[in-house]
Amino acid sequence: MLKNSEEIELLLSAREPGIRDPQRSEQGPKEILCDFFKDRDVNGQRVLELGPGHYEFCETIRQRGAKAEAVELDPPVIELGLRRKFRVWPGNLTQLPSLTIYGKFDGLFCKGSNNPFWFYGNEKTLRTYIVAMVNLVKPNGWLWIVSSPDCSPTLTSTQVIQWLEIEARIYRELGFTEWVIPHKVIASYYGICFTHSRLAVFTLGLPPHSWSAYSIMRLIWFCLNSFFFRHLRKLFK
Ligand SMILES: C[S@@+](CC[C@H](N)C(=O)[O-])C[C@H]1O[C@@H](n2cnc3c(N)ncnc32)[C@H](O)[C@@H]1O
Repeated sequence: MLKNSEEIELLLSAREPGIRDPQRSEQGPKEILCDFFKDRDVNGQRVLELGPGHYEFCETIRQRGAKAEAVELDPPVIELGLRRKFRVWPGNLTQLPSLTIYGKFDGLFCKGSNNPFWFYGNEKTLRTYIVAMVNLVKPNGWLWIVSSPDCSPTLTSTQVIQWLEIEARIYRELGFTEWVIPHKVIASYYGICFTHSRLAVFTLGLPPHSWSAYSIMRLIWFCLNSFFFRHLRKLFK
């Protein structure tokens, strides 16, 4: 969510069209914290987000007492973070193992900003990338990761699924819990863009996914809003 005309103007030159959009949905961070961080108090934690976009997760976790920082490649997005008083480490995530980022974090969050297809066909490099994310976190820390669904249109759906399965196996071998998102409505409830038939949340150091009463109510409201009211509005247009 962009807060004023200066921020809207700043992000007009962002690399990604979704990030240029001032109406970009804020959905996700609150719901994620509610359902994945049940017993985890983030107050006082140092948390790193990879690719923060409009800094929704950084803002939400800062409101809960954490100190949020980010890694970002795109100058306008870096500038947005600095204006909002976040520490931003400039850098290209494809080079994560060699980026300069000082100190270890209590938690690392990445929603749709890293992409296993950057390393398509090279399992060793993909593993090195995932290990680099784990190494940014303290031994008792946590990671919450959803990869970007974007991949080359030249890949067949079988190739895409096979590579996503290789990615999932690497996460599992490193001790992550995998939660395969059952439906695109659930994905959008958590602010996740769903284009593959196989999309998963990988977590380490967090309890397995479970629905809170708050989420069930919000999800019902979300579904009503997405389907019912949208169609109703069309009828009355
Ligand atoms: C799809 S947006 C996701 C934003 C946010 N995580 C969210 O869920 O709304 C991707 C973000 O990652 C950044 N990004 C994309 N590729 C990157 C790269 N190779 N290195 C660093 N940042 C990158 C983009 O500029 C953008 O801020």
